[in-house]
Amino acid sequence: RREPSQQQTRRSAAHDSAFLRACRREPVPHTPVWFMRQAGRSLPEYRKVREGIPMLDSCMRPELVTEITLQPVRRHGVDAAIFFSDIVVPLKAIGIDLDIKPGVGPVVAEPFRTRADLARLRPLTPEDVPYVTEAVGMLTAELGTTPLIGFAGAPFTLASYLIEGGPSRSYERTKAMIYGDPELWADLVGRLAGITSGFLKVQIEAGASAVQLFDSWAGALAPADYRQFVMPASAKVFDAVAPYGVPRIHFGVGTGELLGLMGEAGADVVGVDWRVPLDEAARRVGPGKALQGNLDPAVLFAPREAVEAKTREVLDAARGLEGHVFNLGHGVMPATDPGALTHLVQYVHEQSRR
Ligand code: CP3
Repeated sequence: RREPSQQQTRRSAAHDSAFLRACRREPVPHTPVWFMRQAGRSLPEYRKVREGIPMLDSCMRPELVTEITLQPVRRHGVDAAIFFSDIVVPLKAIGIDLDIKPGVGPVVAEPFRTRADLARLRPLTPEDVPYVTEAVGMLTAELGTTPLIGFAGAPFTLASYLIEGGPSRSYERTKAMIYGDPELWADLVGRLAGITSGFLKVQIEAGASAVQLFDSWAGALAPADYRQFVMPASAKVFDAVAPYGVPRIHFGVGTGELLGLMGEAGADVVGVDWRVPLDEAARRVGPGKALQGNLDPAVLFAPREAVEAKTREVLDAARGLEGHVFNLGHGVMPATDPGALTHLVQYVHEQSRR
């Protein structure tokens, strides 16, 4: 094996966890639960430790990253931790001038427009992100049998921030490049695939037990365009990490029409938002893959009985699945009552105990 034995030993501590078993479509003692954005503003302890520290700075401090990643594990008893970072961290690490603006999201100082901009994207090496290696090492030592999920942004979603210069509703400049200069587009997402693969490899080599590729905004595309312009780059990322043998999760919002293709890109687990019930999602994805999802995060603002009823709907739809990881259909909203999340974890465990 190519990796140091310490990381291997730490990863194997989590090997029989419900989360990793469900990803591998093996029998589980209960349905595992974690939440996208489980670390973050819904937690008062997060707001406290982040006070006065800009988002990107906080991602570069291993002790702080470790503390923030562990907070939802301690508080909610979720079945997996997700590494605290952001999809734009690897871009920042190779020298792209960008920032994360509170309440807005990533903002790129000089958006990508021409072929000359490609030169700004060099490959990412582990030396670019020493703080990630350090934090993952500290985390896996602390987490014991609880798995750590590493993650990265998929080429399309990263490209959309680089081209639009920030968050977008309609992706007009991104689509203008896709349709107007498909060669430049292919070169751009090809380079991003390399950077994303590099970022995932750093996390896996340091001890992450699974990885999630966030193509959050891929739902903006029609299936034929996704297949032609996006899938090859995402497949390149999945292929690059395949030799490690860790489960690969693929998620996007509003991707009901793309679920089959997102699985085909090379995922072991396909993330589903709340717009498609899991039994229907399973038909679209086909056999041989686990599913993750899919309670609407806004449901958590309803009374407890309503949350429980909607949760049972998700579990019922998941009953025939080969593997199910319970999650929200997108990230935890900042105003969510953390108590509702803790109860949801307990409720899913209790309702699914075998
Ligand atoms: O708990 C976790 O899920 C791990 C941490 C995590 C963050 N970002 C921390 C963060 C993860 C997995 C991400 C991924 C990410 N970042 C995605 C894909 C997931 C998704 O939501 O679809 C995207 C699109 C981004 C880009 C981004 N970064 C956005 C849209 C925002 C929100 C801006 C805002 O203020 O509302 C960020 C900032 C960000 N990343 C925050 C957190 C906790 C909020 C910043 C803060 O707390 O100050």
